[in-house]
Amino acid sequence: MSNRMWGGRFASGPAEIMEEINASIGFDKRLAPQDIRGSLAHVAMLGQAGILPAEDVAAIEAGLKSVRDEIEAGTFTFKRELEDIHMSVESRLTEIVGPAAGRLHTARSRNDQVATDMKLWVRDTLDSLDQQAADLQRALSQTALKHADTVMPGFTHLQSAQPVTFGHHCLAYVEMLARDRGRFRDARARLNECPLGAAALAGTSFPIDRHATAAALGFDRPTANSLDSVADRDFALEALAAASICAVHLSRFAEELVVWTSAQFNFVRLSDGFTTGSSIMPQKRNPDAAELVRAKSGRIIGALTGLLIVMKGLPLAYSKDMQEDKEGTFDALQALSLCLAALTGMVQDLEPNAEVLAQAAGSGYATATDLADWLVRELGLPFRQAHHVTGRLVGAASAKGVGLEELSLAEMQEAEPRITDAVYAVLGVANSVASRTSYGGTAPENVRAQAQGWIERLA
Ligand code: ARG
Repeated sequence: MSNRMWGGRFASGPAEIMEEINASIGFDKRLAPQDIRGSLAHVAMLGQAGILPAEDVAAIEAGLKSVRDEIEAGTFTFKRELEDIHMSVESRLTEIVGPAAGRLHTARSRNDQVATDMKLWVRDTLDSLDQQAADLQRALSQTALKHADTVMPGFTHLQSAQPVTFGHHCLAYVEMLARDRGRFRDARARLNECPLGAAALAGTSFPIDRHATAAALGFDRPTANSLDSVADRDFALEALAAASICAVHLSRFAEELVVWTSAQFNFVRLSDGFTTGSSIMPQKRNPDAAELVRAKSGRIIGALTGLLIVMKGLPLAYSKDMQEDKEGTFDALQALSLCLAALTGMVQDLEPNAEVLAQAAGSGYATATDLADWLVRELGLPFRQAHHVTGRLVGAASAKGVGLEELSLAEMQEAEPRITDAVYAVLGVANSVASRTSYGGTAPENVRAQAQGWIERLA
């Protein structure tokens, strides 16, 4: 039997394998709410424009609502031979309301329909990712406030560099998330033009009102070019690009948590709720959630790359290739949502080991820059020379296997005779961080003010 939605010119139906490669219903059924919303807006407009009689509009509207109820109730049967969500909804509508259902597709194509459905889904998802990223910012800002004075080693090249505060480290991620949220909102603003009514690719001869459907679906305006309307998947690419950058940020933090929870670092403790045990090694507390956040960036970036490759070189307008936009986009944005939620949970119950952090902050000659700065400030040495003197002192301390603060004044003076006792004050880790009061620096007073500011802005 030929396809009952488009099989007029066909003598027989598709081969089994044709049906399998062609069908998208397995994954686009999640667009049912968006598809029905779009159809309700379309049919209402067809009525207002005098294209359909009021009684057909009423029948179709009632029918679409029943289809929606059946799908919500889980009683709807999805059939592969109906290919996709658009034909599944229309086919069931026909069973419910009879031939009037056939009028719904007037002045519309699946090409503008699917673009509209996807835009609605991506738009809602960007909105909720924005909220979830704000939740993570809130959790990080609270932790930052609590740990504005908790010193820890700051690293470059993963080598001890200069002491920072734990709160400052948390606020670095709050900044990254602020940019991520900006990208989600930019992507949303740019996608918010409605493709519905572009029809297959050329527009339609029916006197439709595209401004009315655009407004009914919460879009700012209709898209301006019918070819572009059905050929564009920039909105999905842009959402995936923003998601990929965010996922990269989350993976960096996740990696730090994995390293920091190791026995060798022992910088932080994750709660029982966010760790797992081992089936063989009873002592283990594995940071599985952090590892999975680190790993899921892979499928998110993969979805972006995959769709870029699908779209590259596609001639205008619609090609079935574009059906491949869905699984990756759904999967990636859902994965990001899970990562944001898991990281928020981890941060909320995270406990830094203040003593271990302070100890580590002081090791590795992390206050060497403070010593060089002191030589500049107190003795008037040019910074390059101060750097050299400090380097010699670090060498001397390291040869003895002691910290800078354990060198005697006599030993200090061998490198620079004008050094006085006062130097020991800057060799302490707390002094070091307290002195970093430049705008954006790690001083506890800065961190407290910034954390407070974020908490207020995020309220
Ligand atoms: N399932 C299709 C998709 O997701 C819907 C559009 C089909 N259009 C067409 N001309 N065959 O892209």
